[in-house]
Amino acid sequence: MASRDIMRSTTRGFKKYYSPNVMGELRLDTNTNVLGSNPAATRYLREQKVDLNEYPVTYSDDLRAALASLYGLEMDNFVVGSGSDEILDISFKTFTEWGDSCLVPYPSYSLYDYFAQMNGGSVVISELTEDFQLDVDDIVSSKAKIVIAATPNNPTGNSFRQKDIEDLLARFKGVVIVDEAYGEYSDLSMIPRVNEFDNMIVVRTFSKAYAMAALRVGYGVANKDIAEMMNSVKIPYSLNSLSEGAAIAAVGDQDFIRKSKDMILAERPKLVSGLEKLGFRPYPSDSNFILAVSPIDHANLTKALRKRGILIRDFGSKRRMENCVRFTVGTDEMNRSLLSAIEDILRDGN
Ligand SMILES: Cc1ncc(COP(=O)(O)O)c(C=O)c1O
Repeated sequence: MASRDIMRSTTRGFKKYYSPNVMGELRLDTNTNVLGSNPAATRYLREQKVDLNEYPVTYSDDLRAALASLYGLEMDNFVVGSGSDEILDISFKTFTEWGDSCLVPYPSYSLYDYFAQMNGGSVVISELTEDFQLDVDDIVSSKAKIVIAATPNNPTGNSFRQKDIEDLLARFKGVVIVDEAYGEYSDLSMIPRVNEFDNMIVVRTFSKAYAMAALRVGYGVANKDIAEMMNSVKIPYSLNSLSEGAAIAAVGDQDFIRKSKDMILAERPKLVSGLEKLGFRPYPSDSNFILAVSPIDHANLTKALRKRGILIRDFGSKRRMENCVRFTVGTDEMNRSLLSAIEDILRDGN
């Protein structure tokens, strides 16, 4: 058996990512859009006539132009890639030197550590406060080269205070990545302000509200100099032509995004109160998912729901999320099925 010593020292401790063996279950574990595939992207894929023999346009200019017109910016403010994970990877690749400290809040999206370390950075943790807000003084005093913050944050679900993000941008000397993967569900965004800062990258995805996770499209927004640096580091052609065309079609259908957000805003409080009635302690959410302390053992709950055809995400063994699970907010019907399955489990024990 080959020893892991053969690996680069900075990646030797890596483990493979969450990879459930899905067999038709209701997926409330990945925070995708429960309304199903993006309709405009689906239509595009049915009708598209892409010449498969040709490379994509190197930096996906048409998608960058579509995003520019959506936000009233210029296409040179954008870098697009294969999922926002690629944009995160490009950010660390572009701005960190081997051994640089990369500041990652905790709890937050688990892949931040991976992208920082994969690119040679060393991870410095800043604990979120008791109510899962940023500790700006702690971050600023860390002297890290780069800091990343998801707002709304995953897996906690809450947004960070706008004044804390602004404070961070004013006081932190390095690069600030603001990950707005769930930004469509929130009223706050730093995108309109990208030209004010020369140390900010805002990251967004087509995997969540846009309902296109299968196609792997994400983008970064920054001032033109920062975006140009990132485009020069990105692997050319990393976004394939079909995904680019589908994303352009999806940008053109903002009604679907509004409908998706309205559905979450209507269903989230109902799911919260249903969970509370069953003894859960949900944390406040500005997103399409809810982190909650389970009234019974987290692993038993996750397993018993799976047996009943529902996948949720178990965080219960992690520090500061003891006995917590995360539910994607479903449609009214999905949430009723979830709550009645949990009622069953509470009654029967498994
Ligand atoms: C906070 C956050 N950022 C980024 C991502 C990556 O999304 P994708 O690579 O699908 O765009 C996720 C996915 O769960 C996420 O929760």
